[in-house]
Amino acid sequence: MNPLECSHKLTVKLKDNGYDIVIGNNMLDVAGDLLKPLWSGNEAVSVVTDENVWRYHGDSLSRSMDRARIDFQPIVLPEGEGNKSMRGLENLYESFARMKLTRSGLVAAFGGGVIGDLCGFTAATWMRGVRFVQIPTTLLAQVDSSVGGKTGINLPQGKNLAGAFYQPKLVVIDPSTLRTLPAREVRCGMAEVVKYGAIRSMSLFNSLSSSSEPDLSEIIHECCSIKSDIVERDELDFGERMILNFGHTLGHAIEKQTGFDAYRHGEAVAFGMALASAIGEVMGATESGVTDELQNTLAHCGLETRYPGDIFGLPPMLASDKKSLGGAVQMVLLRRIGEAFVHQTTIAEIEGLLREVKRKWRI
Ligand SMILES: NC(=O)c1ccc[n+]([C@@H]2O[C@H](COP(=O)([O-])OP(=O)(O)OC[C@H]3O[C@@H](n4cnc5c(N)ncnc54)[C@H](O)[C@@H]3O)[C@@H](O)[C@H]2O)c1
Ligand SMILES: [Zn+2]
Repeated sequence: MNPLECSHKLTVKLKDNGYDIVIGNNMLDVAGDLLKPLWSGNEAVSVVTDENVWRYHGDSLSRSMDRARIDFQPIVLPEGEGNKSMRGLENLYESFARMKLTRSGLVAAFGGGVIGDLCGFTAATWMRGVRFVQIPTTLLAQVDSSVGGKTGINLPQGKNLAGAFYQPKLVVIDPSTLRTLPAREVRCGMAEVVKYGAIRSMSLFNSLSSSSEPDLSEIIHECCSIKSDIVERDELDFGERMILNFGHTLGHAIEKQTGFDAYRHGEAVAFGMALASAIGEVMGATESGVTDELQNTLAHCGLETRYPGDIFGLPPMLASDKKSLGGAVQMVLLRRIGEAFVHQTTIAEIEGLLREVKRKWRI
């Protein structure tokens, strides 16, 4: 059967740059047909990917591009966060120049969030913008980073410091690519899924702890629809979009405290969500019992919820966070499962609240 017949389609409705998200198993087999309308027919097309993704899924994508008669050039990078760097950007510019990619060409980001962020930023700045599409292959990228148009690279001074809002023209999500994803990476993606449930959807949240074999296509669809809904109302992240940062303020601090080495992003966010929920409870802003519920669901998804490091070392780390504006810290708290809000706070207040959290929960 044609995979398109059992796919879900969402549209991100933006004032200028709306686009479709197509979700379905074996979508890679029809990716070429989906990309074809975006291609002029003779300009260069580049598929940027990493060595793991290319090893497992390069043949499927190549076959579907060949069938659609799209002449493309793969650029296969080593795996890892190191690609999201000035060096990675420069290498990609050089490849684009070599293949004579013009503004009417097309770039496809085929990989996880690293490839998507790097490729999106390179596309945004190559000749002031060449069209790009996202074909995400990690759970994190399928539920989060491929949608919403945040692109960027890391600098020695911090993560994601150079970037642009640059929306893709299309997002093609094939959940069957996740069969080759290492279990740890799946768990990291699940942390973001739990986040969507916690901030916006009690039914999604409840479904995560009630089934042992979650239907990933359904979950991805639900997460993308929550994300696009939020992005439609706040594309440039001045207000409502901030709630997508639930668990991220302290999560980023944990990543920084542990040298971006001990924990993957999703693992740190799981700790961060448990801490943020507990902070909300000691403040009286979050319904009591929510932290236990959150911890149970995270544990059900295979995630640790008690950060074993020094939680009192975390608040000072917030001072240099990109999201902390002029000393004030914006922290996302839950009212209850499915409802979140942004709380303006200070580093000193967080320190005090963490002391209470420690007393009450031994988190
Ligand atoms: N732009 C955004 O809105 C946004 C949101 C969240 C995170 N991010 C960024 O995303 C990045 C993390 O993304 P990630 O977690 O996807 O990491 P990643 O891109 O490094 O992928 C993780 C690992 O999985 C491998 N891989 C990818 N797909 C695979 C597959 N189908 N089978 C087997 N292996 C596969 C990769 O080679 C890599 O080793 C970070 O840089 C983060 O800053 C961006
Ligand atoms: Zn995240």
